[in-house]
Amino acid sequence: MEKIPYDIILDIQRKVNIVDIIAEYLPIERKGKNYFAICPFHDDHNPSMSISPEKQIYTCFVCGESGNVFNFVMNYEKISFKEAVSKVAQKAGVMLDVKVDDKPKVEDKNIKYYKMFDITNKYYQNNIRSSYGKKALKYLNDRKLDDETIKEFEIGLSMNDNNVSKLLVNKGYDINELVDIGLCGKNKNFTYDIFRNRIMFPLYDLDGRVVGFSGRIYNEEDDSKYVNSKESLIFKKGMLLYNYHKAMKYAREKHQIIIVEGFMDVIRLYTVGIKNVVASMGTAITKEHADLIRKLSKNVVLCFDGDKAGEKATISAIEALEKIGIEPKIIRLEDNLDPDDYIIKKGIDLYNNHLNNLMSVVSFRLDVNKTNTNFNDFNEVSNYIKSITKELEKIDDKVVYELTLKKISKETGVDVDTINDMVSKVPKKEKKIINKRITISKNKYDKAEEYLIYYMLRNKTAIELYRNKVSYLKNKKLSRIAMETLEFYEKNGYINLTDFTIYLEDKKELINEVLRIDDLKLPDDVSPGVIEDFIKTIDDGIIKDEINKIKEQIRTETNVAKKVVLLEKLSNLKKRECK
Ligand code: CTP
Ligand code: MN
Repeated sequence: MEKIPYDIILDIQRKVNIVDIIAEYLPIERKGKNYFAICPFHDDHNPSMSISPEKQIYTCFVCGESGNVFNFVMNYEKISFKEAVSKVAQKAGVMLDVKVDDKPKVEDKNIKYYKMFDITNKYYQNNIRSSYGKKALKYLNDRKLDDETIKEFEIGLSMNDNNVSKLLVNKGYDINELVDIGLCGKNKNFTYDIFRNRIMFPLYDLDGRVVGFSGRIYNEEDDSKYVNSKESLIFKKGMLLYNYHKAMKYAREKHQIIIVEGFMDVIRLYTVGIKNVVASMGTAITKEHADLIRKLSKNVVLCFDGDKAGEKATISAIEALEKIGIEPKIIRLEDNLDPDDYIIKKGIDLYNNHLNNLMSVVSFRLDVNKTNTNFNDFNEVSNYIKSITKELEKIDDKVVYELTLKKISKETGVDVDTINDMVSKVPKKEKKIINKRITISKNKYDKAEEYLIYYMLRNKTAIELYRNKVSYLKNKKLSRIAMETLEFYEKNGYINLTDFTIYLEDKKELINEVLRIDDLKLPDDVSPGVIEDFIKTIDDGIIKDEINKIKEQIRTETNVAKKVVLLEKLSNLKKRECK
């Protein structure tokens, strides 16, 4: 993996203005000498991200996310540092003579697998356009998929033969590997294709590479409507979402991501221009899915099938999303329809109606509970109200609360006050505060380490004092920052905040910490004596730690001779402490 040299990266950075680059992604407004934007890295409602044209740095004062122009592009687009540099280079009009080939090494091993799927995918697509594919094409056209859509989603056809096995073996691929990735099966000395006579939907990984297939029956009755590739090194259903690679762009544009169950649902929505959509492919939403979804947008819409199974899947998806702090919105389709059938039967206008009137989790839960309750059975009514009190508890808005309460009272014939009493008996959960910076009160030793770094970031003398007098810092992160600062200084002969962050490349944790410390409000001009005082305090902190450690060892040491050695060590340390 070739590294882009630091001076080239620096040159690119100097040719662009971070304000202009961020403005390509987010609306920004000027306030004084800085610019502000709604922070895209946490659920922000007021502009909390400031952009400094002077420092060429962005900082969110709520979630603490910060960095230079490359870090922004990298974090926003979820790409590697190198890819971000190459993107910014393009915008700057700089020809980058470096191959951006950043795939980690493990993937090299998998390249062969991707290639096998790619060849197979092309082969299936070819089949559907051959004379054998007429019936399959007609099936798809009858399902209102036009040729353009079939091409867009690379839909193909497997035939009743063993041609994939033959083709790939002829190309020199190892039959055992073909078995491993689920394209072929093997008997004693006979290999055969797994997918036969099915319409083939390629399944893509997050980068848009084909890593599996799902084959649908189309011209005969079969027990299984869909047959999927078995899981392999590169295909894990719980880790991917169908159409993720395409939806990314649209989800960010629309600030919303829609989740459906099937790939036919994705494809249908796509054909009517709704492109910010991914499918879970019939599996329950996993923690990994939820994390992936959160990267696309905080505004999540669940639109599963309108049947009982879809309702259950919705409940479990809500739980998975709530665990990571996302409160999704819900669409419930009438008449047990899935989104694909719904749009075909009822039309896009009615579907858009749903999109414009999204249901909250609370009203979805009320709705589900209601349809599952027999209102003639008093016990069921009582259980219904108990289940509802938990939902009512979550409503913050007083008006919404009161209206909901009245509605339930009317539905059940139970007095408003009775229900209200039950709600207030539910123990109040503490509201979770996420994404807020936590400030832990620091002792003078920790502070001294931060202050030393603060001056090292702007002052040669501090760096030299660090080099000559400090052995290490207690805080590991600060210790790394100090070492990197020294290294930067020794390589370049100067120190400058912005350039230093570029030097740190994708070490995001360090960059965030550097920028946090740089933001401490300390006097800029201090004498070397002040810095030496910090170093003295740091030393004291280290000695104090060692004293405590030895005291503990003395306490537990049973061997007398060893204890004496420890006591001597202790007395030496105490002498140093008094100095
Ligand atoms: N699925 C699967 N294996 C099955 C059935 C379903 O992997 N045996 C997945 C597929 O990704 C499918 C999704 O679950 O798209 C939803 O299943 P279903 O609602 O049965 O299929 P539809 O998407 O409605 O497909 P179609 O419209 O072609 O019937
Ligand atoms: Mn369907």
